[in-house]
Amino acid sequence: MTAKRRLAATWAACALMGTTSVNSEPEDFGRRREAMVREQIEARGIRNPRVLAALRKVPRHRFVPEDLAEQAYRDGPLPIGQAQTISQPFIVASMTELVDPQPGDTVLEIGTGSGYQAAVLAELVTKVLTIEIVPVLATRSRALLAELGYGNVEVVTGDGWKGLPEAAPFDGIVVTAAPAEIPPALLEQLAVGAKLVIPVGRRKQMLRVVERTEEGFSERGEYPVRFVPLTRKPESDPER
Ligand SMILES: C[S@@+](CC[C@H](N)C(=O)[O-])C[C@H]1O[C@@H](n2cnc3c(N)ncnc32)[C@H](O)[C@@H]1O
Repeated sequence: MTAKRRLAATWAACALMGTTSVNSEPEDFGRRREAMVREQIEARGIRNPRVLAALRKVPRHRFVPEDLAEQAYRDGPLPIGQAQTISQPFIVASMTELVDPQPGDTVLEIGTGSGYQAAVLAELVTKVLTIEIVPVLATRSRALLAELGYGNVEVVTGDGWKGLPEAAPFDGIVVTAAPAEIPPALLEQLAVGAKLVIPVGRRKQMLRVVERTEEGFSERGEYPVRFVPLTRKPESDPER
């Protein structure tokens, strides 16, 4: 077969894969997930084997609207309704690696959204608490995570700006919506040695990692990002 024909055959195979029905998909989704991990995540430098294994396991196509399931393993964010998104797979992997999850940890996530990042974390730690400000998203994620067997995730409906003081300190905190500045409560709720991974900024955002040390906090910027804003309830935001 000539190179040109081989290419044409590959395109045809891809087109066919794209028309497979959701019911007959498991094997195909598995292949796409494997390709996602190799081409989007390992190829860009994510090395933590536990993180890679979690990304290989969590069925991302279940966390997007059904009509977008075919696109679940693409290299980008996708809409999940309520003007919100599920983050790009690489960003989920990178933030997970940066928070450095350990088996016995309790981790807090702000911005449950689809529940996908919470599920990835749940593969790696003992307990995940995740806060979502949009009630319909919290309800949907809570049901999906339970259906998929993630009994170690608790979805809390509320404003994550304040964290969850009653369950602190946390061994890691991941924030998946961008505030203009780091919420002070989240720093207070970090255990010594724990990291906060958070996009910060309005028009220009930087992914920041803050580690709590015995002496205080050390902070570094990782790379520019673009997240939806961390919103506040009107009564708790004096600027509204
Ligand atoms: C980029 S999406 C999150 C993606 C999500 N981690 C996932 O895996 O699908 C950001 C989410 O943060 C939520 N959010 C925004 N402000 C919030 C706040 N103050 N407290 C809790 N959640 C908030 C949004 O409603 C949205 O669902």
